[in-house]
Amino acid sequence: MQTDFLVIGSGIAGLTYALKISKEFPDKKITVITKTQEDETNTKYAQGGVAGVWDEVKDSFEKHIEDTLIAGDGLCNEQIVEIVVKEGPERIKEIIDYGAQFDKDASGEYALGREGGHSEHRILHHKDVTGKEMERALLSQLNAAKNIEVLSHCYVVDLITQHHLGYLVTKSTLDITCFGVYVLNLRNKQIEKILSKITVLATGGCGQSYRTTTNPKIATGDGVAMVYRAKGKIENMEFIQFHPTALYEPGTSPSFLITEAVRGDGGILRNKDGEAFMERYDARKDLAPRDIVARAIDNEMKRNGTEHVYLDCRHMDKEKFIQHFPNIYQKCLSIGIDVMQQMIPVAPAAHYSCGGIKTDEWGNTSIQHLYACGECASTGLHGANRLASNSLLEAMVFAHRAYLDSVQKINTISFEGHIPDWNTHGTTEPSEMILITQSQKELQQVMSDYVGIVRNDVRLERAMSRLDLLHKETEELYQTTKVSPQLCELRNIITVGYLIVKGAQFRKESRGLHYNTDHLEKSNLLQNIIL
Ligand code: FAD
Ligand code: SIN
Repeated sequence: MQTDFLVIGSGIAGLTYALKISKEFPDKKITVITKTQEDETNTKYAQGGVAGVWDEVKDSFEKHIEDTLIAGDGLCNEQIVEIVVKEGPERIKEIIDYGAQFDKDASGEYALGREGGHSEHRILHHKDVTGKEMERALLSQLNAAKNIEVLSHCYVVDLITQHHLGYLVTKSTLDITCFGVYVLNLRNKQIEKILSKITVLATGGCGQSYRTTTNPKIATGDGVAMVYRAKGKIENMEFIQFHPTALYEPGTSPSFLITEAVRGDGGILRNKDGEAFMERYDARKDLAPRDIVARAIDNEMKRNGTEHVYLDCRHMDKEKFIQHFPNIYQKCLSIGIDVMQQMIPVAPAAHYSCGGIKTDEWGNTSIQHLYACGECASTGLHGANRLASNSLLEAMVFAHRAYLDSVQKINTISFEGHIPDWNTHGTTEPSEMILITQSQKELQQVMSDYVGIVRNDVRLERAMSRLDLLHKETEELYQTTKVSPQLCELRNIITVGYLIVKGAQFRKESRGLHYNTDHLEKSNLLQNIIL
């Protein structure tokens, strides 16, 4: 199969790019691949909303820029921050034009929410299901586009580069080029090759490399792992953001999120003794940036020997709560918690990958004809910690920029004709699938125990030696058995785990989301760790 534009991922980043390209080139072929149903994405679960300067009287670009830089703790690329903050409102207007509805107040103005690290109310939202609404609007446009084909239940296994033509490709090769992908069609179990002129990775996050995460099953860092295998550049993977308030519900995966907007509307964190403990940690209390709140909760849990703290909403107005957070209200009721009477048990959970595939300001990766946007990309916006609700914004801004850049390039690129088919010679069906699920659990346990919110050198070393063993066993399985999504995902979360640990070992300081008790000071050297 051949396609002009190949988009891997049907979340906000992939869909935004595909729609723009389809409108620009009605005669060209655009293919979107997604590994399960087209709406099963991190995007669908986004609750709080999308940040953007909307109230030009109280808010300003300068304030949003400053909040983003403070959260990023010295490592944001200031040029990129300015681009995202200033171009963001235009992109939000576009998705409103596509049909996304954001809540309005009684006067008909957008009701702007507030979250941790924001100095102003600037979060547009659709109740507490903003991502679902944005995804709905994008998919309805996509379904009307005649030149976009969506291949659901297709799992991309690897990028095709010169390596597959028999050339030696190393980290120092300057012209590594992407010619398309090998994809496992889950309907007929065959691996097909898709050749493309331009490929866009919009594969989302990697929360599934941890035991407790807000991310759905699809979030296994596939794009990052594929680029790393193809010898492309990956950056700042040690900065994994833990959301402070996932619902504590043992045995449930993924964890249900209690949006930070609840704290924005007045929710208060309390420990087992009922103390509003955030006062002891930061002057911004419950609305300090996420790294600070998550570490404070972690500390309270360890100090008190508890597995969670509480979010207290009992003093909040019931009608307003139900209006803004109907999904959360119902979910809590379904497990016997009336949030107006009882406090909600919450604990931190792996939530967002701030690093990823290194890109420039147009979404170009270090591999030619390959773009990355959305959560899988590291654009320089988030630095050492992402400001809440900046990621939907970043995804739209960089999908747009990648689109603009690829419009300039598409007519200079032709298909590569000599790509071999996938070789299944000598492989057999795996005899024990349980080996794959056990290794996956082990990996998640190792990452949660040794590479969580608080790290130290011994824990990181331990994690690395455990990962080494898992890597060897899994590669052996990969070489000898038929490829399955479960095996590929295991391979990918091991690679991502390795990149997180390696980044954490290189970073001999505590900054933003990376907190190492053996290196508590910040280094004077501001550096991104590129692997
Ligand atoms: P995704 O939406 O995750 O889409 C990834 C796509 O890639 C999927 O279609 C998947 O099938 C596909 N894919 C991946 N690997 C493969 C493969 N190998 N083969 C084929 N297809 C593949 N951010 C905010 O700004 N505001 C919020 O309020 C907010 N709330 C959040 C709440 C939750 C519970 C979570 C989990 C995240 C939240 N975030 C929020 C973060 C934000 O939702 C994500 O960063 C963003 O949606 C990522 O979009 P994306 O397009 O990059 O990837
Ligand atoms: C939330 O709603 O608290 C999540 C927002 C985000 O991850 O940006």
